[in-house]
Amino acid sequence: MSKNIVILISGGGSNMAAIVRAARQQDWAGRHGIRVAAVLSNRQDAAGLAFAREQGIATEVLDHKTYPSREAFDAALAQAIIAHDPALVVLAGFMRILTPAFVERFAGRLLNIHPSLLPAFTGLDTHQRAIDAGCRFAGCTVHEVTAELDVGPILDQAVVPVLPGDTAQALAARVLTQEHVIYPRAVLAHLLRNQ
Ligand code: GRF
Repeated sequence: MSKNIVILISGGGSNMAAIVRAARQQDWAGRHGIRVAAVLSNRQDAAGLAFAREQGIATEVLDHKTYPSREAFDAALAQAIIAHDPALVVLAGFMRILTPAFVERFAGRLLNIHPSLLPAFTGLDTHQRAIDAGCRFAGCTVHEVTAELDVGPILDQAVVPVLPGDTAQALAARVLTQEHVIYPRAVLAHLLRNQ
């Protein structure tokens, strides 16, 4: 059975890189037969693509702007993913809302990381909203993806303090360091649980 991971990114790809590094450092391939098979992006300029290529990982860009509808893009994306026979599809800063048909197709093997302590602060601008709400703590959540945005069974979380005078940028950077800890861990745990 396949233990391939396909990772979807739109930008910097630091979570993707954290997963790739963890896989290498912990020898996921040798110990568990797990490998990152491909990194796909909806943006040609996603900085993370260069890292993935350097690691010898297959990459592909599907520019959502060149498709006539969200459904058409998601159908093409699904085909590109399936070509890599994935056991798990990992959203890592993939900034597209997915159609219910896409989510249904990968149900149970589609993970996301969100930069808040879900169920608080779904959607965008999470760090500023946490600061504005006077939160003392913020964090990140790995969850299974369902048709509802940023909602689904929670697999892992990490907490960071919100410090006096924090900017959204400072808080985002603090949260991101924890994303890089919990996402590789949650990906491995999910694959080992479902093998
Ligand atoms: C992360 O904060 C992630 O939680 C959010 O977008 C950011 C992506 O960062 N969805 P990167 O592309 O993994 O560096």
